[in-house]
Amino acid sequence: MDSYLIERLGHMGDGIARGPVFAPLTLPGETVTGRLEGDRLHEVKIVTPAPERVAAPCRHFRTCGGCALQHAAPEFIAGWKAGVVRQALAAQGIEGEIAAVHTSPERSRRRATLSARRTKKGALAGFHARGSDVVVEIPDCHLLAPGLMAALPVAEALAVAGGSRKGEISVQATLSPGGLDIAVTGGKPMDGPLQVELAQLAEGLGLARLAWDGEVVAMRHAPEQVFGRAKVTPPPGAFLQATADGEARLLAEVSTLTQGKSRVVDLFAGSGTFTLPLADDAEVHAVEGEAEMLRALDRGWRNAPGLKRVSTEARDLFRRPLLAEELSRFDAAVIDPPRAGAASQIAELARSGVPVIAHVSCNPVTFARDAAVLIGAGYAMGPVIVVDQFRWSPHVELVAGFSLTSA
Ligand SMILES: C[S@@+](CC[C@H](N)C(=O)[O-])C[C@H]1O[C@@H](n2cnc3c(N)ncnc32)[C@H](O)[C@@H]1O
Repeated sequence: MDSYLIERLGHMGDGIARGPVFAPLTLPGETVTGRLEGDRLHEVKIVTPAPERVAAPCRHFRTCGGCALQHAAPEFIAGWKAGVVRQALAAQGIEGEIAAVHTSPERSRRRATLSARRTKKGALAGFHARGSDVVVEIPDCHLLAPGLMAALPVAEALAVAGGSRKGEISVQATLSPGGLDIAVTGGKPMDGPLQVELAQLAEGLGLARLAWDGEVVAMRHAPEQVFGRAKVTPPPGAFLQATADGEARLLAEVSTLTQGKSRVVDLFAGSGTFTLPLADDAEVHAVEGEAEMLRALDRGWRNAPGLKRVSTEARDLFRRPLLAEELSRFDAAVIDPPRAGAASQIAELARSGVPVIAHVSCNPVTFARDAAVLIGAGYAMGPVIVVDQFRWSPHVELVAGFSLTSA
């Protein structure tokens, strides 16, 4: 059997040997054998393990596709994620300083999308198996916060009540102080009897809120999230930073970068993760595509005492970015776009003369592209902090500041 030397990890966390040949669950420096099918190695055997190889902490790791990197030491993963950012910047001709990698602890995910399907005996819920649509049960998951583990039996009960025979439901579960906030998609179409059954289930299971294909079926307690001094009830299924720990770290960096600024614009503001804490000290204009999220943000602001003025604007920032002329009244900007990045908005920021920009990103490639545009316009990039909310996954998130060198 041929053997292969793993040279590097790809962006999905697979080992890559010359060819390229992709070998899952391997590490750079390892010699492995396996059955080659196309460009992928199956039934991989490790001949020479890397020193960074560790025993996976979770017993589900072999089958569950929720994690990709539990076979690697945490220090290796942190170094690899820093390297992904460094390489993305280097591809744009930027030599960046990666100041720190901050990884959220085990069992700290407060939001997750589970899969659940009916079975002959009832239902099962968990994550998809690696590279497959089979659902794997995860009663000993090392990712989910203890309170979020309660979403597993909830997802099963919902699949029994409203899953179709063949299909699978997707259950987005979010922890809130008032209980679990559950948003289901892919279930049976809602009718009267299903609505009654789901409302009873929500009561019996003690859910804070249950939404079915976007429609709220039950709201026993407002599933509030706390952003600074404000309490916000985001719309069902809305974005929320994946761990409280990661959110706190991002916010600490964003707050430091915008310190002393009195007029801040928060672009891709969501439900106010950054807007509302920053409004302790600054007037903040929050811009976001989802009007419902902004309504939630605005209600949270109005009910919180002592915050500075917060204004909101629902706007598609891909098609209609805030123009440089509109941006020039602010003395700091926060930008936290989705994975696709925000090329057109960055182009306007680059022309705007806003002295400080705090850039939060979940995609090092688009971040590096944005960084090149800002640096080309006279901004200096500060140190990059990698904030790893998706430990054991290949996702990379980060925050960095840009300041106008002439400001
Ligand atoms: C990564 S999330 C960040 C949200 C917020 N900053 C937070 O930390 O909670 C990106 C946000 O961009 C919004 N978004 C996506 N596409 C958009 C667009 N074309 N225009 C404006 N907002 C958009 C999403 O609704 C989401 O709230």
